[in-house]
Amino acid sequence: MAKNTSKSNRLPIHILNGPNLNLLGKREPEIYGRTTLAEIEKACAARARSHGFSTLFAQSNKEGELVEMIQGARTGASALILNAAAYTHTSVAVLDALKMLSVPVIEVHLSNPARREDFRHKSYVAMGATGTIAGFGLNSYMLAIDAVAGLLKGKKK
Ligand code: DQA
Repeated sequence: MAKNTSKSNRLPIHILNGPNLNLLGKREPEIYGRTTLAEIEKACAARARSHGFSTLFAQSNKEGELVEMIQGARTGASALILNAAAYTHTSVAVLDALKMLSVPVIEVHLSNPARREDFRHKSYVAMGATGTIAGFGLNSYMLAIDAVAGLLKGKKK
């Protein structure tokens, strides 16, 4: 049987974003910068493409929707990059959904929660993630894509 050596049979990298990230650019720019979510989406697609991956990029302000989108990564994604925003620090439901995934999960943050208020020091997402990248703004997403590409090197799907 012929082997498909093209990279097109790879599942997309899912990049999911939690509450209030739809207002990036306007929201506390001294913390989160002026880059909009649409700009992050575009940069992610380009970076993933450079590694031979497509992306599925989404945002929700609703916890249940985020849980459903994480569940969707079980069968539809080669990896998940997740900025769960405030749900990072509160959501057992998000953690439980992450625990059902067998693909790499990278937790990302634009800011560095470890340098911020105490309530941001706890991350439920971290307990279900392969690793965490925080504090580099837009670059946190770029580094997460590079990390995923490294982890999936050689894998066809
Ligand atoms: C954030 C950090 C969270 O503490 C915060 O609730 C966010 C954004 C970040 O990307 O820096 O909404 O996830």
